[in-house]
Amino acid sequence: MKNMIIFSTFILLFQVALYNCNAEKCDLKGKWKNELGSNMTISETDKNGYFLGSYLTAVTTHTNVEIKKSPISGVMVHSSQPIFAFHVKWTFSDSITTFTGQCFVDSSGERLETMWLLKATARSSDDNWASTRVGSNVFRRLI
Ligand code: BTN
Repeated sequence: MKNMIIFSTFILLFQVALYNCNAEKCDLKGKWKNELGSNMTISETDKNGYFLGSYLTAVTTHTNVEIKKSPISGVMVHSSQPIFAFHVKWTFSDSITTFTGQCFVDSSGERLETMWLLKATARSSDDNWASTRVGSNVFRRLI
């Protein structure tokens, strides 16, 4: 009886280990596109979770500006579905956007579910509210 219990415990532990090995991992690295049509590329993350990248937005708050690729700087917490935060310092605009979110992977694929806050330069603190926007974006992997 005792041997049976030990054997069953080993089988259970083996199955748990096997499940964890096969569990899908969401990887931030690569090319992504959101529902607005914006594209971004995220580079390899270092051992501390820091990464760089580039962002080409499909939309802008400005009229008559030429949209240009802008740099991303971010950090993530290593896990199978990592949380992350990054900012984009727009090269063609006087604004910065911060994104924070989580990388999910399931039957509908890999995606980054984010919320963002955009801050443009206000002329005075009275205009501060008008120079701040918030929203959300979902990014899907480009193959
Ligand atoms: C600006 O217009 O001042 C800079 C570009 C801002 C683009 C925003 S950031 C949040 C949202 N998601 C996108 O992909 N683009 C817009």
